[in-house]
Amino acid sequence: MTAAVPHEEEYRSRFDFAIWKRLFAFTRPYRKDVRWLITFAIGTASVDATLPLLTRRVVDDVVRLGSAIRPLPYVLAYVALATMLALCVMRFIVHAGRIRTHVSHDIREAGFENLQRLSFSFFDQRPVGWLMARMTSDCERLSNILAWGVLDLFWGTTLMTGVSVAMLLLDWRLALLVLAVVPVLAVVSAMFQTRILGTARIVRKTNSRITAAFNESIMGVRTTKVFARERENLGEFRVLTDEMFSASVRNALLSALYLPLVISIGSVAAAAALAVGGHAVAVGTITVGTLIAFLSYARQFFDPIQEMAHWFAEMQMAQASAERVMGLVDAVPEIRDSPEVRARIAAHAASGSSDPQLAADGLPDLISSLTFENVEFRYQDGETVLTDFDLEVRKGQTIALVGPTGGGKTTIISLLCRFYEPTRGAVRADGVDLRERSLGWLQSQLGVVLQQPHLFSGTILENIRYGRLDASAEEIEAAARTVDAHDFVVALPDGYATQVGEGGSRLSTGQKQLISFARAVLADPQILVMDEATSSIDTETEQRIQRGLARVLAGRTSFVIAHRLSTIRRADRILLIDGGRIVEDGTHQALLARRGRYFELYTRQSLEESGRRENDWDATDPGLAPA
Ligand SMILES: Nc1ncnc2c1ncn2[C@@H]1O[C@H](COP(=O)(O)OP(=O)(O)OP(=O)(O)O)[C@@H](O)[C@H]1O
Ligand SMILES: [Mg+2]
Repeated sequence: MTAAVPHEEEYRSRFDFAIWKRLFAFTRPYRKDVRWLITFAIGTASVDATLPLLTRRVVDDVVRLGSAIRPLPYVLAYVALATMLALCVMRFIVHAGRIRTHVSHDIREAGFENLQRLSFSFFDQRPVGWLMARMTSDCERLSNILAWGVLDLFWGTTLMTGVSVAMLLLDWRLALLVLAVVPVLAVVSAMFQTRILGTARIVRKTNSRITAAFNESIMGVRTTKVFARERENLGEFRVLTDEMFSASVRNALLSALYLPLVISIGSVAAAAALAVGGHAVAVGTITVGTLIAFLSYARQFFDPIQEMAHWFAEMQMAQASAERVMGLVDAVPEIRDSPEVRARIAAHAASGSSDPQLAADGLPDLISSLTFENVEFRYQDGETVLTDFDLEVRKGQTIALVGPTGGGKTTIISLLCRFYEPTRGAVRADGVDLRERSLGWLQSQLGVVLQQPHLFSGTILENIRYGRLDASAEEIEAAARTVDAHDFVVALPDGYATQVGEGGSRLSTGQKQLISFARAVLADPQILVMDEATSSIDTETEQRIQRGLARVLAGRTSFVIAHRLSTIRRADRILLIDGGRIVEDGTHQALLARRGRYFELYTRQSLEESGRRENDWDATDPGLAPA
C-alpha cells in the first residue's frame, strides 16, 4: 500500500511575504549575528567594487608614466584590499554558519513542541513519513536560505548598487548601455522562476509522499512478506518515483536553461560596452584604464544576478517548504484549553491556593460522576459513529464495554479521555462539560492502556516509570507485581534494565500490554481505562492479573474493553455496544438471565474456550484429558 495522500493546504503561487516574515522571525534571537553578517556582506561588496578603480589607476599611470612608474604603492594597496576581502569573507562564513545552525535547531524544536500538543485528529490525517520529511529536509533547506540566502542578497544588492554608481560616475552613457538589459533580465527571470517553482512544488510534494510510502512499507514489511505483495508494492511505489522523476527533469532543464541565458544577456551588454567604449578610447574621450575598469564592472554587475537568481529560485522552491514547516509550527491543536479555562488556570495559580481538593483550573479535583449526554460523534470525513449516546457512570464503578468490532467502544473512551470532542452533545464530569475543564488536569487523572500499547526505546524500568516520573524502584516493582509482570521481567537476562527496542519491538504483544498496564497502575489515576488490555495474554496469566486487578479497580472508576468476556464478569455494569448504541446494559448475571446478545456471545466463547482446553490436554498430557 502506498500512503494515503495527506490533504495539502492550498497555497498561492505568488511570492508570499507573510510566510517569509514569519520565518525571518526565527533569526530574531540571533540579531547580532545577522547584523555582523550584513556588515561583512556589505564590506565584501565594497572591496569588490573598489578593485576595478585601482586597476584603472594602474593602467592609466602605466600609459602616462611608462617605465618611470613606482610599483610599491599599488602593490601595497592591492595587498590591503585583498586582506580586507579575506577577513570579510572569513567573518561572514562564521556568522552565516552560526545562524544556520541555531535557526535550524529552533525551527525543529518549535515543530516538535507543537507536534506534541496537536490532537489525535491531526495525526489521523497525516502519515508519519510525511511529517518526518517536513521536520528534516524542509528544515535544513530553510535554515540554509536564512543564512546564506540573506548573505548573498545583501552582498548582491550592495555590489550591484556600488557597481551601478561607479559606472554612472565613470561614464553615464556607457553605464546606461549596460543597465539597459536589466528589464530584459527581469522579464526572463520572472518567466523562468514561476515555472521552476511549479515543478519544484511537485518534486517536494512527491518527495513527502515517497518518504511516507517508505515509512509505511518498512513498518508493514512483515505483512507485505506474508502476503507476497512485494511486486504490487513496488508497482505503486514506482508510480510515485516516476512522477518525481519527470518533475525533477523538467525542473533541472529549466534551471539549466536559465543560468546560461543570464550569462548570454550579460555578455551582450558587455560586448556593446566594449564596442562603444573602444570607439571612445580611439577618439580620446575616455582613457584605456576607464574602459578596462568599465568592462570589469560590466562583468561584476552580472555576477550577483546569477547568485541572487539562484537564491531567489531557491527561495521560491523553499516557499513550499516554508509553507509546510510553518503549517506544522503554526498548526493549532483542535483540542486545547479555551480562553476561559486558561484564565481560570491562571487565576488559580495566582491565588496561591494549595487546597488538594481543587484541580489546576480551580474546580473540584474529585470526579464523582461521568456522563455522556446526547453525544453525537463522527471522525473527520467519516461516517457518524455515535448518535444520541447517553451514559452515566458513578465513582468507583467498573464499566465493561463489549460488542462486535467497529461498534464504537474505542471511540467512546477516546471521547471520555478528550482525545476527540463530541460533534454534538457533551461529556461531563460532575455536570461540567469536559471542554470547560483543564485538558492537562483531565488527562493526568486518567490511566490509559491503549488497544495498541506503545513503549518507548529504553529499559522496562523507564517505560513503567513513564506513568509517574518520581516513582521509586520499589514502587515500580510493586506496580509490576500487581499486574503480574514481575515474573516475566526478572526472567529476562537484564531484568528491569532490559532494552525494549523501538516501540517495544523486542517484546511480545502480551508483554507490552503488561508493561503499559503496570505504567497505568503506577500513575494511580482516578479513572482507569483499558482497551483490550488483556487480549494477548494467556489465560493463566490473565487469571492472576484478575486478582491484582480487583485490588487496582477497588474504589476507582474504570472502563474496561474486552473481547474475552471472562475478564469482565465482575464488572458493575456491562454494556454491549453495537453500531454506536448501547444494545444491552446490566451485570453479568442479569445479562445472562436476559438470554440476549450477551448470553449468546458468552456461551459461544465459553464453548470455544473449553474446546480449546480439551485439545490442549489431548496434545500435551493425555492422562489429564476428561473422560
Ligand atoms: N481514527 C479514525 N478515523 C476515522 N474513522 C475511525 C477512526 N477510528 C475508528 N473509526 C471508525 O469508527 C468506527 C468505530 O470504531 P472503534 O474503534 O470505536 O470500534 P471498536 O468498537 O473499538 O472496535 P474494536 O473492537 O475492533 O476495537 C469504525 O467504523 C471505524 O471505522
Ligand atoms: Mg477498539
